[in-house]
Amino acid sequence: MNTPEFIDLPEILSARGIVRLPGSKSISNRALLLAALAGGGTEIRGLLESDDTSRMREALGRLGVEMTPLGGDDWRVEGVGGGFPVGRADLFLGNSGTAFRSLTAALAFAGGDYRLSGAPRMHERPIGDLVDALRQLGAEIAYLGEAGYPPLAIGAAAIRSGGLVRVRGDVSSQFLSGLLMALPLTGAETAVEVVGELISRPYVEITLSMMERFGVPVERRGERCFVVPAGSVYRSPGVFHVEGDASSASYFLALGAIGGGPVRVSGVGENSVQGDVRFAGALARMGARIVMGPDWIEAGAPEEGKLRGIEIDCGAIPDAAMTLAAVALFASGPTTLKNIASWRVKETDRIAAMAGGLRQLGAAVDESGDALRVTPPAFLVSPHRGIDTHDDHRIAMCFSLASRGIPVRINDPGCVSKTFPGYFARLAEVTQAAPVIAIDGPSASGKGTIAARVAAELGWHYLDSGAIYRLAALAARRAGVSWDDEAGVARVAAELDAVFGEKSIRLAGEEVGEAIRHEDISAGASRIAALPAVRRALLFRQRLFRRAPGLVADGRDMASVVFPDARTRIFLTASVETRAQRRYKQLIEKGIAANITLLSLDLRERDLRDSQRGVAPLRQSEGAYLLDTTDLSIEETVARVLAWSRAAG
Ligand code: DC
Repeated sequence: MNTPEFIDLPEILSARGIVRLPGSKSISNRALLLAALAGGGTEIRGLLESDDTSRMREALGRLGVEMTPLGGDDWRVEGVGGGFPVGRADLFLGNSGTAFRSLTAALAFAGGDYRLSGAPRMHERPIGDLVDALRQLGAEIAYLGEAGYPPLAIGAAAIRSGGLVRVRGDVSSQFLSGLLMALPLTGAETAVEVVGELISRPYVEITLSMMERFGVPVERRGERCFVVPAGSVYRSPGVFHVEGDASSASYFLALGAIGGGPVRVSGVGENSVQGDVRFAGALARMGARIVMGPDWIEAGAPEEGKLRGIEIDCGAIPDAAMTLAAVALFASGPTTLKNIASWRVKETDRIAAMAGGLRQLGAAVDESGDALRVTPPAFLVSPHRGIDTHDDHRIAMCFSLASRGIPVRINDPGCVSKTFPGYFARLAEVTQAAPVIAIDGPSASGKGTIAARVAAELGWHYLDSGAIYRLAALAARRAGVSWDDEAGVARVAAELDAVFGEKSIRLAGEEVGEAIRHEDISAGASRIAALPAVRRALLFRQRLFRRAPGLVADGRDMASVVFPDARTRIFLTASVETRAQRRYKQLIEKGIAANITLLSLDLRERDLRDSQRGVAPLRQSEGAYLLDTTDLSIEETVARVLAWSRAAG
């Protein structure tokens, strides 16, 4: 599949609406496994369709479990009633921790020969504590790579039935969950004692409640001991409903809190079994308005003033806590997240990845072994090369929230498909981006004058995209890079040190407003503008101009490429003679000698080059108003544009 390298998110003005959540990943993968092990068929309603659940379904399919899609997000799973039909299989589990840990435990008692492997990152995530626990019951498990980590080979050992098993709980709660879900396969009463602190306890609660739904109540003896009774057998509950994903909900609740709101998520609420619903409480502590119903939660901005930074122990909400780190960008004062050591062994080292991205946005971040302190910047800055997501869905979704304050480029956005394939589409549905008026047209059609006046009338920002191509041409010349050297000019363009002021344009600190208007630089701009790599390198730089309250942008491809969602699109033109006359007048006024015939010729040539080039050729984009200004004054033209803009808004 072709996945995009990046997604550019415009600055969000506000967020409001309703989001139906996809099914919970944790519940979906547990439901698949328990339904597979149970006696009888189970209809699972609202199963999450994502990478992690696909890996689980594929693995169960290879083990001989029959699963049938029922349409929508519903599936029927034929339980095998204990033993898997296939006794020898090679399973690939991607980067799904829930699938890997729970299947390791279930297969350890399955009496077959299995190999379990995953994505490279999965092979860096520890599993030793679970293997140690399973070995206490006689399981035969070998490390095929480094000791303590996947891949694994599981053999058909004789299982010692019953007794006491000790498992560590301070690296991942998935070890305990996986072990508990597998124990009914041994037939005997087994007590599990957790050694050390038990982190992410709410996930264990999900496991216990689901085992009970599938007919196996687990007895608790104190805080750290769980007993699976003798003769426990999973039985299908008939129909099982998957709740919406509470971790996925956190991004939209955060949006409501930072973007005005209200934003409502439906699919989880006060009756949820998922610990991450407590994220709403953390947002409330920051000042957000939170309202909950049985299966929905709504979040809005504080009644008055800003969100405030908090200090919070995140042991119970390890995944949703990442979202708090992003919300911290919009709070007054620092936010400290404590007890988050488990972040280090997730899809990536999440403490390092969050700290890195937050710093790129201008925040001051202190990271210690198991805590993160985020001090928001006075104003956000957006890195030109984008925010790296480290193949971690949550990093991608967290940093999308920064677009409340600034346009952001998220690299490798496809990684959200691990748990939330439609995330960016849902995000666009409940947010309002800064509006754009795109004014395209040929050279000297008056776009610049009109766009700047319209921007001034509206109090919006103004982008002269031609100036950016001119700057790149000038910078290339100064760096001694030939205008034909595509890779060289693209490199210069990507690193352009340009600052646009009210009335100034600076390149590497030097005022160049006049220099970029020289005829040879105009010719150079036209040449480099035909190079695809140069256009790509300048894309995000142009999008960064789209700030609140709105942008008026002029160029050649504003509506077709740079701002394809521009609210108002205008194609401005005038006869070549009129354009030559206007340019002639401009030059003479500046004291520059000019020849009207030569100017006409030059414009014709440039029109031809701009309209015939392979990339982003100059043409009226779909849905654009055509405005011929040959016989219109500047005031008349501005008035037309403003009227169209009002009609669109
Ligand atoms: O609008 P202008 O004359 O300042 O533009 C300078 C050159 O840059 C011109 O030859 C066309 C090119 N350009 C472009 O290809 N795409 C844009 N969006 C803006 C300008």
